Amino acid sequence: MNSEKIEIFDTTLRDGEQVPGCKLNTEQKLIIAERLDELGIDIIEAGFPISSPGDFESVSEISKLVKNAKVCGLTRANKKDIDVAAEALKLAKKPRIHTGIGTSDSHIKYKFNSTREDIIERAAEAVKYAKTYVEDVEFYAEDAGRTDNEYLARVCEAVIKAGATVLNIPDTTGYCLPEEYGQKIKYLKENVKGIEKAVLSCHCHNDLGLATANSIAGAINGARQIECTINGLGERAGNTALEEVVMILKQHKNLNLHTDVNSRMLNEMSAMVSDLMGMSVQPNKAIVGANAFAHSSGIHQDGVIKNRETYEIIDPAEVGVNASSIILTARSGRSALAYRFKHIGYEVTKNELDYLYQEFLKIADLKKEIDNDDLSVMMDSFARKIG
Ligand code: KIV
Ligand code: ZN
Repeated sequence: MNSEKIEIFDTTLRDGEQVPGCKLNTEQKLIIAERLDELGIDIIEAGFPISSPGDFESVSEISKLVKNAKVCGLTRANKKDIDVAAEALKLAKKPRIHTGIGTSDSHIKYKFNSTREDIIERAAEAVKYAKTYVEDVEFYAEDAGRTDNEYLARVCEAVIKAGATVLNIPDTTGYCLPEEYGQKIKYLKENVKGIEKAVLSCHCHNDLGLATANSIAGAINGARQIECTINGLGERAGNTALEEVVMILKQHKNLNLHTDVNSRMLNEMSAMVSDLMGMSVQPNKAIVGANAFAHSSGIHQDGVIKNRETYEIIDPAEVGVNASSIILTARSGRSALAYRFKHIGYEVTKNELDYLYQEFLKIADLKKEIDNDDLSVMMDSFARKIG
């Protein structure tokens, strides 16, 4: 069976930048946008143009700069937002307007003090209006994760009729379970009239740590676009992490789904976004965390030294990491110690290793990690001892 493409929609510069402390200036956004384009991203959400003059400027400049990807601007479902987004996107080679409205009962009641019927009308009107500017209009049904499926299907039908080319089904509050989110996408695929004219898109938040799992469940059930951010940055607990989606699809070829993202740039991309946003990456973050390819317990180290595949499902080079690392701690074993000695130029015999290992444990119990300097000191004192 031929593998189908999942379009990657990166919203690092919009949903990711909404995080307190992550604000970027236009110059920084341009640096990231250019690299995202090189990374092979299909759609770059550059910002929310009406939100501030700075964001408008960023979207305009990114529109001029980006060569391959579609450039997208966010709006609410009103004419003023759409006019401003269209103006900001006017020099983009492939512009997309991303408009939408809350569809859950809670949003309809508390945010809009409105009715389900009125929301459908406003949604369709916004899409129709956006279509007067651009061909490519994506509609988001905010809080779709908590919107009942029958009503959501009616909203989707109305906006497809109005011309929407992409239907974004956000789990805005990160509430859904993967099974539930996957079923929602399946339901829409099977029950929305005209669905063949539009692409379904997953946009998941990570409040329960399920954003990536939900997005993959959506793709398995028929979505063909995933919205995500570098390092999973985003409101509250964040969004679906781009690097996780790319590597899951790469590792699980049986899903017959792929992206066009160059995975070898992922590590560098993660570091760059982390630096520019001043947001450090947690060491145990999947794919791009400092410990993602680091082994510190004796059993694992012994396996990895014999054959990397015993404890690594990804070749680090595939995500742009030079090599896996063997970290020396009090939990490390003899083979890791011998490996690290060899690495700094010392071949040791079995008897020497037995002795050195006991010395190593004495120091390791007092320190979090043993580095190359500690190893050299150990070796010097061993050399003096034997004479
Ligand atoms: O999470 C969400 O619902 C959003 C929309 C504005 C697309 O970010
Ligand atoms: Zn979001």
